[in-house]
Amino acid sequence: MQAAFVTASPYGWMVKRWRRYGDVFSSRFPIFGRVVYVADPALVKEVFLGDAGTFHAGEANTLALGDALGDHSLLTLDEGRHLSQRKLLLPPFHGESVRRYVEVMAEATQREVERWPLGKEIELRPCMQAITLEVILRAVFGVRDDARMDLFRERIPPLGEATSILNWLPFMDRDLGGITPAARFRRALAAVDELIYAEIADRRAAPDGEDRDVLSLLLRARHEDGSPMTDPELRDELMTLLTAGHETTATGLAWAFERLLRTPRVLARLSASLDDGDYLDAVVKETLRVRPVVVDVARKLTRETEVAGWRLPAGTLVLPAIAVMHARPDLYDSPEEYRPERFLDSETESYAWIPFGGGVRRCIGASFAQVEMRTVLREVLRRVRLRAPSQRPERGVIRHVTVVPGRGARAVVTERLSVHPAAELAGAHNGRPALADAASEVGVRRND
Ligand code: HEM
Repeated sequence: MQAAFVTASPYGWMVKRWRRYGDVFSSRFPIFGRVVYVADPALVKEVFLGDAGTFHAGEANTLALGDALGDHSLLTLDEGRHLSQRKLLLPPFHGESVRRYVEVMAEATQREVERWPLGKEIELRPCMQAITLEVILRAVFGVRDDARMDLFRERIPPLGEATSILNWLPFMDRDLGGITPAARFRRALAAVDELIYAEIADRRAAPDGEDRDVLSLLLRARHEDGSPMTDPELRDELMTLLTAGHETTATGLAWAFERLLRTPRVLARLSASLDDGDYLDAVVKETLRVRPVVVDVARKLTRETEVAGWRLPAGTLVLPAIAVMHARPDLYDSPEEYRPERFLDSETESYAWIPFGGGVRRCIGASFAQVEMRTVLREVLRRVRLRAPSQRPERGVIRHVTVVPGRGARAVVTERLSVHPAAELAGAHNGRPALADAASEVGVRRND
C-alpha cells in the first residue's frame, strides 16, 4: 500500500508521513523492505557525514539501478574503490572545467528550439531530453562523428524505455526466449556498449591532446599507482554519467518551465533579466527545491547502528527525505510558493537544500547540471515566448528513480523573438563573453 501511495503522490506522500510521525519515520516497501527516513537538517547531516564503511550508498543504489552500470561505476561502488574512482572523475566536473561546455549547451538548445512549431501544443520534457542527451554526448563522451552521433541518438532512448520496475523482480530477470523486459534491456545495453567501446578505441588510437571533453580528461587520468583507466572502467563511468546526468537534468528543466509558465510574475522578471546571472541561478535553485527531481537518497547500513537515537539493524536503508526538507515551513517561508527571491534575499541553512544529496556521495554533476539549466533556460527564453495550455499544475509522476511532470511539461510557442546579434554566441556582454556569464557562479554549496 505504501508503494501505491508513493506512486500516486511522490511529493505529497512523504510530507504527509512527516506531518504524522515527525523527523524520523519508517515505511515498508516491496523489494526494499523496511526503510527509515530522516527529515531534519541535523539528522540529514549525521547520515551524509556518517562513516562511509557503515553507510553504503553504492549498495543502496544497486538495489534501485540494477547492475547494468558495471563493476566500476561510481554510483554503485563503496568505500575505497568508490573513493579512488571519485578522485578520477571529480576534476572534469569542477566549476572551472564545466565552463568550457557552455557553448555546446547553448548551441544544442538553439538547434532544438528552431524545430518547435508555432501555436501548437508540445511536450517540453522530450525536447529537454534531446538537448541534455546531445550535451552529454558532445561534452562528456566527446563524440564528433555525425554518423556515430546519430547511432547514439537512436540507441539510447530504447535503453530508458526498457528499464522497467519489472526488472527488479527476480523472476523477470530471465530472458525467456528474448521476450521479457530484462532481455530487451540487455539487447539495448549491448547496442549502446558497442558504440561506447568504439568511441574509446578511436580516441585511444588518435589522442588529440586537448581537454575538450570529459573522456579526454579520463583517458589521461591516472590511478594512485600510476596506471591508466582500463576500457571497462571508462565504459562503466561513461554509462554512469549518461544514466545519472541525462534524464535528471532534462527533468529539472521540464519542471522549471512547468513552474515558470504558471507563475507569470517570476517568468516576467526572469525574461526581463536573462543576463542577471543571480536571478537565473535563483530560478534554478528554487525549481530544484520546490520540485526535486530525486525525492530521497539512500544509504544501506552494513552493521547495527544508532541513527537519530534509534538502534537500526544491519541492512536497513536510511534515507534523507529531500522532498520533506524542501517543504518544511520552518526552513522555507510558504514552502509551496515558487519564489526564487528566497535564494537572493537570504542564505539557506546547510542541509536544508539537498537536491544533489551530500557528503562523499554528493552528485559530481551538480555544477554541470546547474550551468546547463541556466544556459538552456536563458537560450530558450531569449528565442521564444511560451504559455501553458492549462494553468492546472502538472502533478509529479515517478519515472525510474526520478519524479517528472505528469503531462510532460506541456507548452505552446506563441511567438518567436529576434535575438539581438550582440548577445549571440560569440558576442560580448559587459566586456565579458555573454555565455561565460552563465557559468560564472557554479553553485558550490556549503555542504560540499
Ligand atoms: C538536475 C540534475 C541532477 C540531479 C537532481 C542529480 C541528483 C543526484 C543525486 C540526488 C545523487 C545522489 C547523491 C547522494 O547519494 O547523496 C547524484 C549522484 C550522482 N550524480 Fe547527479 N544529478 C543531476 C545531474 C547530474 C549530471 C549532469 C551528472 C554528470 C554528467 C551527474 C552525475 C552523478 C554521479 C556520477 C553521481 C554519483 C556520485 C557518487 O556516488 O559519488 N548528475 N545525483
